Formats: sequence, structure tokens, C-alpha cells
Amino acid sequence: MSEKPWDGRFAEKTDAAVEAFTSSIDIDKRLYSYDIDGSIAHCKMLAKAAIITDEESESLIVGLEKIREEISDGKFEFSDCLEDIHMHIENRLATHAGSVSLKLHTARSRNDQVALDIRLYLRDMSRKIIYGLVQLRKVLVQMAERHIDVVLPGYTHLQRAQPVLFSHHLMAYYEMFTRDTRRFEEGLERINVMPLGAAALAGTTYPIDRAYTASLLDFPTVSENSMDSVSDRDFIIEFLAAASLCMVHFSRFSEELVLWSSSEFKFIELSDAFSTGSSIMPQKKNPDVPELVRGKTGRVFGSLISLLTLMKSLPLAYNRDMQEDKAPVFDTVETLTACIDIYIRMLPNIKVNQEQMEKAVSTGYINATDMADYLVCQGMPFREAHGCVGKAVSYGLDHKKELHDLSLDELRSFSDLINEDIFLELTTGQMIERRKSYGGTSTHNVRAAIARAEIQVSQEIRSIKNN
Ligand code: ARG
Repeated sequence: MSEKPWDGRFAEKTDAAVEAFTSSIDIDKRLYSYDIDGSIAHCKMLAKAAIITDEESESLIVGLEKIREEISDGKFEFSDCLEDIHMHIENRLATHAGSVSLKLHTARSRNDQVALDIRLYLRDMSRKIIYGLVQLRKVLVQMAERHIDVVLPGYTHLQRAQPVLFSHHLMAYYEMFTRDTRRFEEGLERINVMPLGAAALAGTTYPIDRAYTASLLDFPTVSENSMDSVSDRDFIIEFLAAASLCMVHFSRFSEELVLWSSSEFKFIELSDAFSTGSSIMPQKKNPDVPELVRGKTGRVFGSLISLLTLMKSLPLAYNRDMQEDKAPVFDTVETLTACIDIYIRMLPNIKVNQEQMEKAVSTGYINATDMADYLVCQGMPFREAHGCVGKAVSYGLDHKKELHDLSLDELRSFSDLINEDIFLELTTGQMIERRKSYGGTSTHNVRAAIARAEIQVSQEIRSIKNN
């Protein structure tokens, strides 16, 4: 189809198979708007530095805006011969701006151009993800507030351990997603560095003004070293690592929702609108949404490993290998934003089966630690109390009785430090309320955590809206 920018050096035409193999247009075309933003800033800088005239800059910008419209209206023709989005836009510019289009690429290389595009893209996407995570945290806080009086067993080794407030359990996820939010915010600082001006790798002979380009594109800093500028993909790896950890949290939450909605647990019910049926078993109502979120975790980890492997051992500076960075990044952004979005919609639709959770708390010797703590309060050393309660549990197992179902005489056979007041200590309410240590599950603590989170979330939403 069209000529290549490097035709001058080549005697033969590129083989069609090579064109198809090296083309990335199907993937990187989604960067078009960022590419155009970068080119417009570049034009303005070239004019300011008197490398091109103001009129030339103006006609380049008008042409670039026309191309933006063509692409967004679906009226732009893409082809493998033009390799990538950068060459498509530059090539099309000739139609709109004539021969001045040949000046657009002055003092620039696709190497710094693509680095700029992906930074602009990830800056936008990080902000979108941060906003989504804040919304998700808000939903969690609302859910925790709504269910403040619900108790369920807390587990270790997936064995009933001690009772906790359901809200406390939810707020554990609030903490995880808060750390995720911070990770994306911190990553943003390193994404938000302007690489343009590094040119191919060594900088350029033109009197460019990189700080001006940066200010036009709202970058607080420019990159320091031209070779690093075109070969750094750390910020992508950090983004994928943050996304991977966030998916770890989603997959843990999803696993719990799957377990909890099973007939074995029956702690929750997902609404019909968020479940699917079986094509063969009429009775089934499946938790496909959390299952799929759990399953999608794998592809995000895969993207992180892809990028780490891609970058490992690459010599300085740009290498074509790096073109392979985009598909995993785009896929991760799509996957993560979809998971955040579906969770925000699904969580408020979960029906909590309070009765069933409370039933689960009443069995399984879940108050054994509290009985030991009772003995410690009466003066028995903890290790001794642990052994004493262990014997009581073993007795209870033999006689098919929970600790709180034993008579006072039976209990006193394990220690004469035990009195009538032990029964109160073994109730669920007491077990919850006595765990007052900071960060523990007492209602007072959890209410305070919810109140702090409410303030935190609304501050974050306000500051996002003000920026
Ligand atoms: N499509 C390329 C990429 O994504 C753009 C940079 C090409 N640079 C080059 N020297 N061939 O990395």
C-alpha cells in the first residue's frame, strides 16, 4: 500500500508475511487518542522552539484533530503495512495537512513516542482504577454498616476458630482494597514522568523544550536519562504487580462468596440477577460471578510474568521485543476494571443469612478460647488453662455436648476456679464484645473502624472530584 518511512535505505519491499508478523496495529490502535495528544503537544513545542513555524504547527494540529474524529467515528482504515498507530496517524496526516506533515516527526522517534503514549494511557487507567476501588470500598463500608449485628465464625485453617462480626470480616477486605488504592496511587507517581525528547535513545540535536511539552501534557517531571526513557517499562510492571495483588484480594473474597453460598455453608445468597443456572441440573443456582473473578486472576498474574520475562536481560535501549508489552497491559486493565465494576454491582445484592451464620457460631467449641481466658482471669496461667479446656472439649466431644451445654458440676470437674458466671462469658455476645483490643472485633471497635473508613472514602472521593 503505502511507502515506508525507511524505504530510502531498502532495496526490496517488506515481505507481506513480515508485515503481518511485525504489525501491532490491531492492538495499539486503542492508544490513538493519547498518540494524538502527544503529537499536538510536540507540535506546539516545535513551534515555540522555532523548529517549525506557528502556521505549520497549526495546520498539523488541525489535521491531527481530523484524524482523531475519523478514528472515533470508525471512518479510519487500518492496515498491517503501516505497522502501528504512530505510523498510521503520521501517514494519514499527509492527506489532511499536505507536505507539512513530513515535519511532525522532527526531534522525535517512535521509541520515545510509544513510551509517552503508554504513560498517558496508564495514567488515565490508574486514575480510573483508583476511583473504582474507592467506590468499591464505599460499598463495603455501607454493607458493614448495614450488617453490624451479624456474627459468624471466624476461621483459621478453615476450621471454626472464634466468632467475629460479619462487618469485621468485610472491613478486612476494606483494608486490602485500601492498600491496593495506595499502590496504584504510588505507581502513578512513576508513570507520571514525561519521556518525549529522548528521541531514538540519545536525545536530539534540535533545541527542544522538554519542560514545555511536559507542562502541556500535565506531567510534573521529565525523565532524566534518554536511554532509560525509551527502555524503561518498570512503571508497567509496577502497575501489573499492583493489579495482581488486587486480584489476589478479589480471588480470596470470591472464594469466600462461593463457599458461603454453597448448601454446606448457606451463609449468603447471591441474588438471581447475579447468578446463573445449569443447562442440565434444574435445581442449580451457580455463583458464576465470583467464580469468574477468581478465574480471571490467572490472566492478570500471567500479564505480570509476561512483562517481567519480556524485560529480563534486554540490552539498552529500545528493542522491538517491547512492542509485546501492550496486549498484557490492555488485557489487565480490562479485566481489573470489569472485576471492580461487577463487584460494586453484586455486593449490595447479596442476601445475608444471619440465622445460619449464628447457628454456625453456636457449635464447634468456638468458645474454647474464652473459657481459657476465663480461667486466666481467675488466676490460672494460660498454658494450664489451655490444657484444662482441652480436656473439657474432649469430654464434650465424647458426650456430644458443647462447652456451654455442660452443667456447672461438669465444668467444675475440670477446675474448681469455675463458677456460675462462666456461662455469660461463653455467650456469643460476650465473646465479641470482650475483644476490645485495637483492631479487634468488638462492636465498638468495628463501628469506629466503619466511621473512620466513611471519612476516608468521602475525603478520597472529594479529592478525586476536585482534581
Ligand atoms: N510499535 C512499536 C512499539 O510498540 C513502536 C516503536 C517502534 N520503534 C522501532 N524502533 N521500531 O514498541
